[in-house]
Order: sequence, then C-alpha cells, then structure tokens
Amino acid sequence: MVESPVLFILSLCILYANALDNGLALTPPMGWLHWERFRCETDCRQFPFDCISEELFKAMADKMASDGYLDAGYEYLIMDDCWLAMERDSEGRLQPDPDRFPSGIKALADYVHAKGLKFGIYEDYGTKTCAGYPGSLNNLEIDAQTFAEWGVDYLKFDGCNVTPDESMEAGHLEMAGYLNETGREIVFSCEFPLYRGNKANYSVAIEACNLWRNYNDIEDSWISVTNIVNHYKQNGDKYVTVAGPGHWNDPDMLIIGNFGLSLDQSKAQMTIWSIWAAPLIMSVDLRTIKGEFKAILLNKHAIKINQDALGIQGHLQTTIDNIDVWVKPVLPTVGGEFSYAVGFVSNRDDGYPFRLEFALRDFGLNNSAGYVLTDAFVSDETTQVKSDDTLEVFVNPTGAVLWHLVANEEKNH
Ligand SMILES: *[C@@H]1O[C@H](CO)[C@@H](O)[C@H](O)[C@H]1NC(C)=O
Ligand SMILES: *[C@@H]1O[C@H](CO)[C@@H](O)[C@H](O)[C@H]1NC(C)=O
Repeated sequence: MVESPVLFILSLCILYANALDNGLALTPPMGWLHWERFRCETDCRQFPFDCISEELFKAMADKMASDGYLDAGYEYLIMDDCWLAMERDSEGRLQPDPDRFPSGIKALADYVHAKGLKFGIYEDYGTKTCAGYPGSLNNLEIDAQTFAEWGVDYLKFDGCNVTPDESMEAGHLEMAGYLNETGREIVFSCEFPLYRGNKANYSVAIEACNLWRNYNDIEDSWISVTNIVNHYKQNGDKYVTVAGPGHWNDPDMLIIGNFGLSLDQSKAQMTIWSIWAAPLIMSVDLRTIKGEFKAILLNKHAIKINQDALGIQGHLQTTIDNIDVWVKPVLPTVGGEFSYAVGFVSNRDDGYPFRLEFALRDFGLNNSAGYVLTDAFVSDETTQVKSDDTLEVFVNPTGAVLWHLVANEEKNH
C-alpha cells in the first residue's frame, strides 16, 4: 500500500483539488454536542437541570473551560436539534425558543466565546428538522447570514424531511457557498452521506463539507459502537480514501462517561476514534462525569494520535483471534518511514485479558532503527522496540490497547 510518505501526500493533494477551501478543521474537530446525552428534552419545569436551554450550554461552556477540556483541544460547544422556536420571526429569520433561550443566541455565543471556546449550532437542510422545528429549505442564504451574525463557528446540518433526496448534494454545495459568502469562518458538518447511503457523492462531501456523518446515530451502548465499527470495516477502503485535513468522516459522538460503556469499552471507543482521525465530539454531562472517564477523554496520547497533522484515517490491518489490529500512519516520518499508532481492540467476551504475540513487522512497521513506544492508557513511560522483536499485549474483553510508536532516526549514516 503506502510506499513513500511524500508520494502518498502528493497523491492526496491531487485527489482533493476540489476540497472545501475555508482553512478550517485541518485536524479533526474536537468539542461537545448535546444530542446523545441530552436529546430533545424541552420541559424545563420538570427537568431544569437537563432541558435544552441557554443554562445547559452555559454550564457546559463553564466546565469545558475550567476542567481541562479546552486545554486538551475540545474547543467547539455545539447545540443540536430542539433549540428553535416553532415559527420564524416576522422577517423570516430563525429564532430560538423564547422560554428556553430568553437572552437569544447571539448572547449565548458571546458567553461561549468569552470562555475561549467556539460556538456551534444545528439546522436541517429539509422542510423541518428531525424533531419537527423549522428547517432551512428555501431559506439557506438568510439562515447562513443569521448564523454568521450571531457568531456561529460551526454548523451541523441534518438531512431529515428532504424530498427528493437526490437534491441533497446540490443543496449542500449551495449552502457551503452561502456560508462562504458570509465571510465568517464556519466549520460545515454535513449528514447527507448518511441519508444518501450508497448513492452519496463523496466528491461533493469533500467539496462542500469539513466533516460528514455516514452512518446511524450513536446510542448509549457498546452494541451501538460495534455497529458503527462494523459499518466502517465494511466500507473501510472507501472511507479511508476520502478523509484528510479539512474533510473528515464522522462516526458520531464519543459516548464515554455516560451510562452504556464500561471503562474498557470507553478506552476502546477512544482508541478507534483516535486511529480513525474521527472528530472527537463528546456528549456527556460534564458536571457529573466520573474522573476515570474524564481521564480517557483527556488522554493526551490518544488526542495526539487523533490530531496528527497528516490526517490519515487509520485502517484495519488484520484481525487475530478476534482482536482487531488498527494501524494509523502519523508524523514524524524518518527516512521514508512513518511513525504509527496501533490499536488492539477486542471483540472477545470470554472473560480474561487475551494475550496476543506478534512482531511489528507483521503489521507493516518496518523502520530498521525501531520505534519509541508509549502505551497510551498505561503511562507516559517509553520503551525502545524493534520491528522484529517478539512483543505481546493483553487486551481485556471488549477493551483496547493503544500504542504510539515514534520512528527512530537511523544511526551511523
Ligand atoms: C471562501 O472561498 C474562497 C475560495 O474558495 C476561499 O479562499 C475563502 O477563504 C473562503 N472564505 C471563507 C470565509 O470560508
Ligand atoms: C459527483 O459530484 C461531482 C462533483 O460535483 C461530479 O463531477 C460527479 O459527476 C458526481 N458523480 C456522480 C456519480 O453523480
């Protein structure tokens, strides 16, 4: 497959001659999005702590800034569906629900910006959003302008209630144009490839969008994570080739810290999303998250791998005894060899840490001077390893081990 880093990067440049040129999301976006954890709870009388309201987003902004998330790279605070009023205003502009957002969206964006964060919002290309609020169809330009005036930095654009769905590609190119015309830097997160399925035109996704969903919404369970992983395994060749700086596949939110994943499963999700160069968008209550889950979200080795500037989406190298071995080339390159992240993810549930024995050469890691190895979820300690060394990992059931391997310079030349 990849012969030389230089040739590989050159070929990416040619492939993406028509990529969206807004200078944004050159590494996978990182942030927080309300949907998976908070859904469409609009009853603030009964659920004042959890309802979709300006108070919820201000509380999350406070936590992102004060508890280390922003410092780790999580910078976008994004509202999902259910922030809108049921009607546009008298001038045809979108407006938020007046009870739940009494200060307005501009004031909320200002609050978020004052914390050093960026602000994201949600709309839908169709006649209505998925939850039934006013959609953008026939109002794309005025909505793009409204978002820019409010200080929006990121737009998640859904694809519910669109007929015919063949219109989506052209519609998203049009919206990308209107966003560009505002002059404001706005990351454009699309969902049309998910709705279009096998018919999705990924050239358009690359041209119009900084990131795009290609599969079902994540839910709070390990089964949901494995469904997404299996979909990516089945489409690996297609997805790996369309990802790169400024244009990413989005397998959906990190559900780490909620109710459905164990600690090991959380490490597995963080490992896979990091190897995939997936957007790292948390959806968890940052007011109540337990420390051990927070530590996974903030794991600096995983984030470094995810944010690698080459932006190569890792691939499934092999599966041994039902342990998936995922490999992602990363910087630095040394004499024609990449450095790497290797993720060992267990699909096993037979009750004990499974021992895998291998040589790095088995996975295509051939640097003759070897690598400096860091075991991401264990410690910051490093060890020297060679391509031909016999190595072992122990992978817990439905868990993962994530290795960062920095290529050594050839000595004595
Ligand atoms: C708009 O598009 C042009 C040309 O593709 C690009 O140079 C410019 O940076 C874009 N502006 C914004 C705000 O995205
Ligand atoms: C996909 O979109 C590109 C760019 O707009 C276009 O040139 C191409 O014909 C489209 N492919 C299909 C199969 O429609």
